[in-house]
Amino acid sequence: MSEDVFKKIISHSKEYGFVFQSSEIYDGLSAVYDYGQMGVELKNNIKKYWWDSMVLLHDNVVGIDSAIFMHPTIWKASGHVDAFNDPLIDNKDSKKRYRADVLIEDHLAKIDDKINKEVEKAAKRFGETFDEAMYRETNPRILENQAKRDEIHTRFAKALNDSNLEDLRQIILDCEIVCPVSGTRNWTEVRQFNLMFATEMGSTADGAMKVYLRPETAQGIFVNFLNVQKTGRMKIPFGIAQIGKAFRNEIVARQFIFRMREFEQMEMQFFVRPGEELEWFAKWKDIRIKWHKALGYGDNKYRFHDHDKLAHYANAATDIEYEMPFGFKEVEGIHSRTDFDLKSHEEFSGKKLQYFDPELNKSYTPYVIETSIGVDRMFLSTLSASYCEEELEGGESRVVLKLPPALAPIKLGVLPLVKKDGLPEKAREIIDALKFDFKCQYDEKDSIGKRYRRQDAIGTPFCVTVDHQSLEDNTVTIRYRDTMTQERVDIDKLSDIISEKVSMKNLLKTIG
Ligand code: GAP
Repeated sequence: MSEDVFKKIISHSKEYGFVFQSSEIYDGLSAVYDYGQMGVELKNNIKKYWWDSMVLLHDNVVGIDSAIFMHPTIWKASGHVDAFNDPLIDNKDSKKRYRADVLIEDHLAKIDDKINKEVEKAAKRFGETFDEAMYRETNPRILENQAKRDEIHTRFAKALNDSNLEDLRQIILDCEIVCPVSGTRNWTEVRQFNLMFATEMGSTADGAMKVYLRPETAQGIFVNFLNVQKTGRMKIPFGIAQIGKAFRNEIVARQFIFRMREFEQMEMQFFVRPGEELEWFAKWKDIRIKWHKALGYGDNKYRFHDHDKLAHYANAATDIEYEMPFGFKEVEGIHSRTDFDLKSHEEFSGKKLQYFDPELNKSYTPYVIETSIGVDRMFLSTLSASYCEEELEGGESRVVLKLPPALAPIKLGVLPLVKKDGLPEKAREIIDALKFDFKCQYDEKDSIGKRYRRQDAIGTPFCVTVDHQSLEDNTVTIRYRDTMTQERVDIDKLSDIISEKVSMKNLLKTIG
């Protein structure tokens, strides 16, 4: 899938009420988006799928909903005040600000592109006899570019690892990276920039306190660990799940809802005995990838990306990446965070955050496996997987969102063939009977064909057409979104036919 398709997905999202630019009538607020009437339904269904998979399918996982504002010392303890930074560089001519690491990554990607194009050209030239591996190992131009790339990559990884800002700048200068806007190499120094948004709580006269908008929901779980463990009489191993907003002052905010300044996370911290964390890490990797694959977006669309460089608190980490229109990208992170967070909160708060294990007859600080997925990235992968343009017979075409029925915003479109003869009333009767089971949409405007297209475009898995025969024998024509086939069915059977297919329970059963 290409950038071109990505642009179409963005405009489709807007046209059909999935995602709007925030504050659009004021020319928008960068990297902030609103979910429209269809988007909110799809988003709620994604959240429900995640929430139920955590708290229904695991009797040792419970949920909480902690506040966005938290005591500022929490962010000292978590390391976010001191270490949640991006290295930034400004171009003095365009006055544009960039992430230094992203400029270098983009440069590396360009070298990769060059190499791949060279290989593609050769493959065309040599045809079937082409041996790609051999070509990569022997072609002088490729070898030269590859060596250049490896050298930059090694320097780059070292500079990042050592947080050496001068070296990062030197790489940008040595690679002759220019500002995409001014085209010049007139760069400032590289500076660290903290990603947390700060605001003030209380009036200034009282001595206002600087507080942060949380950059992750996880800390709300850590600081409630003992509250939940004690009041819920939870025994290790157990998990706490949470869905909520998080805020990051992202500098390079691009790719639509992939990188936002206000976004939503679904996080679960699973508390285990020290020494058992890697076993649980492997189990949660397995559980989470099954959750993704059950949606049917294609197993080849996912891959794990294990981290070579681990954060100081982690002893294992992987990302689940999905193939977005702009390449494989992180949708979810799974981390074995050791006892870092709980220990750190013990130290900063002076309160014990330990668990007494009756089986071992001793107290300890539990280790933690975290699964953390962005709702908005899941939403974007869902749109990318579902968006299809299809050529139909007779030279027509349609755009259809082949959403998993359990996630679709509207489950059933109810369409009276004409706006008279009692057909609208019959259609309303059907909706009144089914509205308790799932979301239906009534549509009487335009031809049936146009109405089908509108339902296809929002991913409605079923439509029924109410015609004159419906009044006589209580049947309707049901049309299936993906195959476009139609059949005559009894109105009394609709609830069963549709409920079975759109049921969250049936989706959960495939992984439960
Ligand atoms: N508690 C761990 C944590 O927050 P993270 O990798 O920084 O880890 C977890 O974030 C997930 O949150 C990511 O995999 C991504 O899906 C989502 N996420 C992070 N930053 C985001 C942003 N700026 N916009 C949208 N989603 C974001």
